[in-house]
Amino acid sequence: MIERIRVIGIGMGDPGHVTGEAARALATVDVYLVADKGEAKSDLVAARQAVCDALIPAEHAYRVVEVTDPRRGPDAERDETAYDRGVRDWHAARVDAYADVIDGLDDGETTVGFLVWGDPAFYDSTIRVVDALVERYAATGFTVEHDVIAGISAPQLLAARHRIPLNRIGAPIHITTGRRLLDEYDPSLGDVVVMLDGHLACAELAGAFPDLQLWWGAYLGTPDELLVHGRLADVVSEVRRLRAEARERHGWVMDTYLLRPQADAPTGPRPSPFPQTEPLTDGVVTLRPMTATDWETVRDEHNNEESLRWDFAGQRLTDDEAHRRAASATLEWRRGRAARFVVVDAASGESAGVIGVLRMGPPGTGLIGYGVLPAFRGRGVTTRALRLVSRWALEETGLARLELGHKVGNEASGRVAAKAGFRAEGRLSGRLPNPDGTRSDEIYYSLTREALSPETPA
Ligand SMILES: C[S@@+](CC[C@H](N)C(=O)[O-])C[C@H]1O[C@@H](n2cnc3c(N)ncnc32)[C@H](O)[C@@H]1O
Repeated sequence: MIERIRVIGIGMGDPGHVTGEAARALATVDVYLVADKGEAKSDLVAARQAVCDALIPAEHAYRVVEVTDPRRGPDAERDETAYDRGVRDWHAARVDAYADVIDGLDDGETTVGFLVWGDPAFYDSTIRVVDALVERYAATGFTVEHDVIAGISAPQLLAARHRIPLNRIGAPIHITTGRRLLDEYDPSLGDVVVMLDGHLACAELAGAFPDLQLWWGAYLGTPDELLVHGRLADVVSEVRRLRAEARERHGWVMDTYLLRPQADAPTGPRPSPFPQTEPLTDGVVTLRPMTATDWETVRDEHNNEESLRWDFAGQRLTDDEAHRRAASATLEWRRGRAARFVVVDAASGESAGVIGVLRMGPPGTGLIGYGVLPAFRGRGVTTRALRLVSRWALEETGLARLELGHKVGNEASGRVAAKAGFRAEGRLSGRLPNPDGTRSDEIYYSLTREALSPETPA
């Protein structure tokens, strides 16, 4: 009758990798549930058996029950959604199969164990399966304890074998799968560890990023261990050859690798943060940097008839979306992507609207967006806010040219731009989407640093 489930990380197959804690746990398990994945990876089954033989005391009786793994269709040709759904269905089928075995345990069999290759925290579904089992028993009023015991994982062993740390000083480590590498790779990620890569995806990065350093390891911790280190473009063919030979011999390859950009590798133009600023004011209107607490202003500026009329999607913002937008303002400021302000009526201290500069397009160009709450319209508030933000952006932030645009027909917005010193530059055909699927022309304006003469009213 089951009382406890233990998820035990057993390292990479060498009994020497099993921690003391895991070894003690191994000696407490009555029944090991092992997924039977067919013949293909019988070396792994043998490695697991070797760990049990080496570490479970002879006097401790246990049995191993092989549970036929539900069939899982090929992943390669699935898109992301089908892949996720496929994995979820497969997990559910696994939970059913394990529950069948557990329900049939003898009375004296109280502790069930799962042996996990490496560490249970890295790309392994056992913890999720066990959570589902525990929940299933809880739903019938039956408590099953469970715990997780850490093991040495492939990334750790890769680093140890190559005698390197995985990160550079104070820098992050990004761990991902071969499936995602090509979509997401950017040197600004820093050090990238790749697992679950059936196709050596890094080979496709060698053209664009030849100078990446590669630390590769296969069959780590086993007698067949392979290690290669070098400049990606120089060593990728050797790795490809070693992989192919090994696959031929074993029928499968398990490899993990680290990609590290050169210390001085260019990471592409990175905007510097917008400078910190005190509130900007002309005595009537004050602009202060937006923070998370401004979410109601963000919501109300968006959710009114006039704003929705000119909106691209014409949809109201939920409170959650407004919270997220306001909360991300500080981070966007720090990353130099956008400087967003709340427009405040100086006399009453009430929030009157929002205005912001987005750094986009060619370097030195900023795009301005603004909106004022209905109660504050028609009083020149937007024009004042636009003058304040334009002067600040052109004089304090390194931007040399500001742009803004509005849909044809949005006369009010055009008047604000003109009064704040912006010059109409033309009409861009079909640039802005409408909620009904049509597109509107945009009237485009600019204000350059040169045009911001001292005479420009501010
Ligand atoms: C399903 S994940 C399991 C990871 C495991 N839980 C861990 O902590 O490393 C399988 C992936 O781990 C990596 N891996 C597992 N065993 C390995 C080994 N002996 N040598 C190199 N990589 C290995 C490979 O990237 C493989 O595709």
